[in-house]
Amino acid sequence: MARHRVAALAELPENGNKAFDAGGASVLLCRSAAGIFAVENRCSHQLAGLEGGKVKGPHIFCPLHGVRFDLRTGAPNGTLTKKPIAVYPVSVEGDEVIVDLPD
Ligand code: FES
Repeated sequence: MARHRVAALAELPENGNKAFDAGGASVLLCRSAAGIFAVENRCSHQLAGLEGGKVKGPHIFCPLHGVRFDLRTGAPNGTLTKKPIAVYPVSVEGDEVIVDLPD
């Protein structure tokens, strides 16, 4: 794991998400009342980008077909896919969002 400063906290919309390049991957930062989460920006169904999907509590809905993923575990809900998305440890230090990504 390697720590990456991915974004400034102010870059993250409330109840929304934004993708950033970090460590050679597209990382999606999501922010809601449930907290700040970091996941891979790729749906496990048909590999659509998850950026722009609706964030509600600790969940994100894929913008393409609407599968709901748990941002804490990556687990999908429903029948379209059973494969989880990757989730990454995230922390906020001052006004910076730090994500631990696999090497
Ligand atoms: S590509 Fe995400 S639900 Fe189909």
